[in-house]
Amino acid sequence: MNTEPQFAIAAAELQQAVEQAVQRLQQGGLVAIPTETVYGLAADASNERAVRSIFSAKGRPADHPLIVHLAAPAIVEGSGITRSDAWFTLITPWVRDLPEEAMRLVEAFWPGPLTLVLKKDKHVLSAVTGGQDTIALRSPDHSVAQALLQAFGGGLAAPSANRFGKVSPTRAADVSAEFSDQADLLILDGGDCAIGIESTIVDLSSGTPILLRPGAITPEQIAQQTGVHVLQAGERADSKIRIPRVSGSLKAHYAPNTPLRLYAAGAALDCIAQYPDTKSHIALIVWESEQMMDPQAFGSSHVQQVTMPEQSDLFASRLYRLLRDLDDHSWDLIVMPEPPIGQEWDGIRDRLQRACFGSGPPVNSHVSS
Ligand code: TXA
Ligand code: MG
Repeated sequence: MNTEPQFAIAAAELQQAVEQAVQRLQQGGLVAIPTETVYGLAADASNERAVRSIFSAKGRPADHPLIVHLAAPAIVEGSGITRSDAWFTLITPWVRDLPEEAMRLVEAFWPGPLTLVLKKDKHVLSAVTGGQDTIALRSPDHSVAQALLQAFGGGLAAPSANRFGKVSPTRAADVSAEFSDQADLLILDGGDCAIGIESTIVDLSSGTPILLRPGAITPEQIAQQTGVHVLQAGERADSKIRIPRVSGSLKAHYAPNTPLRLYAAGAALDCIAQYPDTKSHIALIVWESEQMMDPQAFGSSHVQQVTMPEQSDLFASRLYRLLRDLDDHSWDLIVMPEPPIGQEWDGIRDRLQRACFGSGPPVNSHVSS
């Protein structure tokens, strides 16, 4: 998986931006940071006031836990310290228990778009974990985020840099649009996010690895590369397994302001026909390989066709950008194809289903805040 951003910032400029960001963080301020998945809104994870200000900036309920982002270890050749030992040393201050499976996942996928939920160390602020006894950790695979984490030297608590319930930002410009009322928010520009949807979350705190949020790294890949079997939603037959609260598990999340519907293969016209207003302006997403439809087929509706790629990684990298761009125009409806079957599409399907449920202007929205 290539998560390198298509973006290069001059070394001197980067160093200056990072220094400024570290200063802000040390003063208890917030900094928007690029990662390979989506932009995050970061604060010093050891500063309770700073962490609480993330919740007020986002409008997020205080009991929704945050992910703590960690720097990847710098390995010194010839030091005798293995990569695995170095990760272990970095992670242990945050956790009470580090199961062997967790280390296998870290070695295979960190830095990368995989978040691990583990039993928290007693020093971890309960403001970070939403009062739960577990902590979510990840090390982002993005050079700007890593430069900041290295220079800062501590953990950064960071949710996605969007208002609660809205589409996550995957460009610096999306972050400034989202927080346009906070002119002094420092945003580190790291280009477009390569992955484009939030990290995969695996809970390892209960003895049974459980998938809490699908993402670019799939259970199949995890099993193949580490031998660890991660239980998915449909496999949780054992009701004794405790499912932690995850804000992304709310039915409505990741939602655009424009109503969004999904159509089954070949049923785009039926989907459009169900929309009552025949004079509507509709954005119709079609697969790149498919022929554009004849505009005559749409009757009096004004339909603009937009193509999206069939490769799941490319689709994910463009999804939130597309939803935001469409939201900026006054479409009455966005109509998208249902993603194909397969674990590589599960993260996208999950976001699209929630986006459909929560979409529409705030008055119709099902988002609880
Ligand atoms: O890709 C990502 O994960 C991005 C980037 C910025 O790293 N972050 C992100 O954060 O998506 P956020 O806050 O939007 O989503 C984090 C999810 C939430 O659904 C939260 O409930 C869950 O992680 N989470 C955090 N701590 C948890 C814990 N201790 N137990 C269970 N779920 C947890
Ligand atoms: Mg989020």
